[in-house]
Amino acid sequence: MDHFDYKNGTLHAESVSLEQLAKELGTPFYCYSSATIARHYTVFNEALQGLNHQICYAVKANDSLAILHLFAKLGAGADVVSEGEIRKALHAGIPANRIVFSGVGKTREEMHYALSQNIMQFNVESEPELDALNEVAASLNVKAPVAFRINPDVDPKTHAKISTGQKESKFGIDMKQALALYTRAAGMPHIAVKGVSVHIGSQLLDLQPFEMAFNRVASFVEDLRGNGLTIESIDVGGGFGIRYHEHQTAPTLTDYAAIIRRTLSHLNLRMLCEPGRVMVGNAGVLVSRVLYVKQGASRTYLILDAGMNDLIRPSLYGAHHDIVPVREASADAALTPFDVVGPVCETGDIFAEQRALPHLKPGDLVAFRSAGAYGAVMAGTYNARPRLAECMVKDANWAITHPRQTYEDLIKHQSIPSWL
Ligand code: LLP
Repeated sequence: MDHFDYKNGTLHAESVSLEQLAKELGTPFYCYSSATIARHYTVFNEALQGLNHQICYAVKANDSLAILHLFAKLGAGADVVSEGEIRKALHAGIPANRIVFSGVGKTREEMHYALSQNIMQFNVESEPELDALNEVAASLNVKAPVAFRINPDVDPKTHAKISTGQKESKFGIDMKQALALYTRAAGMPHIAVKGVSVHIGSQLLDLQPFEMAFNRVASFVEDLRGNGLTIESIDVGGGFGIRYHEHQTAPTLTDYAAIIRRTLSHLNLRMLCEPGRVMVGNAGVLVSRVLYVKQGASRTYLILDAGMNDLIRPSLYGAHHDIVPVREASADAALTPFDVVGPVCETGDIFAEQRALPHLKPGDLVAFRSAGAYGAVMAGTYNARPRLAECMVKDANWAITHPRQTYEDLIKHQSIPSWL
């Protein structure tokens, strides 16, 4: 459920017209609905009611400070993958003791910073990383709280580029190797073993791989305990999929929570979750203006002012985003197929091929639905296109949360060597 609806013939974010926002901000821009985010958090949290749990929002999905602040107010923690994300989370008010640090390539500098801030947990992904962490913690004379990310070797049945839990993946630690690593870590002076973590992939629309992975992790926890190790927590990662396309059906959070209860609750562990996409995905739209309608030899191209640098998911993953006119089309409007493209000089700058859309003309606005996750965070300035603007809406209030970059911004951080 989201709060983007047509009112008086114009698409609104809560009570704010996207047409009005386009006038104020220019295009393209991302717009987020705070009510939608709050609702997703609440539904997720309620689904886990009764379990000793903490939601650590996966900052990588959308690291807008306004969104992080909203999560802080809702009581969320954060799952981060870099010092930059830790700094943003802390700045937005998420307490350090609710931050879990994931990722295969944490630098010693990042470990140092995270330890100095007293974060809740490091999800360690390899033996050399463990050694580095032990050393950095020794230099600070502290103990680093650690969970190992276990690779349960489960096919998440999602896009190859967002699958992480299979045997030959750069992520996680093979279960057979992990037992020895736990035993070693337990004897290290600056490591405090806390738990186990797992994350098998993103945009899972089938819950069965979760069940399989959690079952494997549960028996692994029993093995660890059988070997005399103390395991207090389990981090079940993120990955819960959302509906991008009318032909998709998303699972329910109640069913997801039932799997967690069924597979893990008997272990009496503190439960951490790292949802990203399901929290913010359909809480954001990308609004863009039609520049030209170009008649090709056999296709009609809708050329927009947003490009792959603003929303890369279609080019990178062949991802589908619904594209709707901001001015509501009549229910019986004729639909014609368009290739919806951006202005970037790349053949791959295509949002959709042969997409059936109502009549659109230059100057019209369109909205890409479900663009709140992995949209703005993956935006760049390719083709020297200033980074686009972002805004947030709450009821009838709206604010620019990230102003559009200026041409001056594009130039001022670079220099031309004097000797050139
Ligand atoms: N935890 C870990 C360790 C992760 O690697 C990820 C996502 C998450 C949590 C959050 O997963 P979510 O709940 O959002 O599925 N750019 C891609 C998605 C990459 C996901 C990377 N890891 C996309 O646009 O689909």
